[in-house]
Amino acid sequence: MFAWSLATASEQETTGLGRCLGLLIEKPLVILLSGDLGAGKTCFSRGLARGLGVPEEEPIASPSYTLMNAYQGRMELYHFDLYRLAEPDDLLELGMEEYLPGAGVAVVEWADLFTGLAREYLAVHLSHQQADQRRIECRAVGAAARTLLQRWQGEWIRQAGGND
Ligand SMILES: Nc1ncnc2c1ncn2[C@@H]1O[C@H](COP(=O)(O)OP(=O)(O)O)[C@@H](O)[C@H]1O
Ligand SMILES: [Mg+2]
Repeated sequence: MFAWSLATASEQETTGLGRCLGLLIEKPLVILLSGDLGAGKTCFSRGLARGLGVPEEEPIASPSYTLMNAYQGRMELYHFDLYRLAEPDDLLELGMEEYLPGAGVAVVEWADLFTGLAREYLAVHLSHQQADQRRIECRAVGAAARTLLQRWQGEWIRQAGGND
């Protein structure tokens, strides 16, 4: 396991963090998001989608009612929101195991409501600190996720350095 914790100071920075990850992804991946309402899971997912090449004009909103939205970028992106799911059986009904992992990238809001969603994944937990500041804790399970998390961290730090 490899972990990385950082803070963002604005919605744009959280979106940028998601975009930075999206740009680095080359293979199917499962990303499990957790954090309270308004923590920034959808902002992060929006940035991720842009980094994966989903066009800017395509709106990315929480799939709260549809449970899953699919987007086409360099790879397919499946955006889940499990908030309204009541039981593990609902996951089966949704055919979710087909996506975890599937042919593309799966990003799952409220992933912590269920256990054992995937064997290998990148977990991202967002929490409120103050006003516009969020703590973002990332954790990789599995070799591929760990390598990606290390590249993501390296790239993010490099960009921040370049902005100084
Ligand atoms: N640092 C930050 N990162 C992400 N969102 C932020 C941040 N600061 C303020 N916000 C605001 O918090 C809200 C996050 O909403 P959203 O991404 O929909 O959350 P979630 O999907 O976790 O419920 C947005 O209104 C956004 O403008
Ligand atoms: Mg959301």
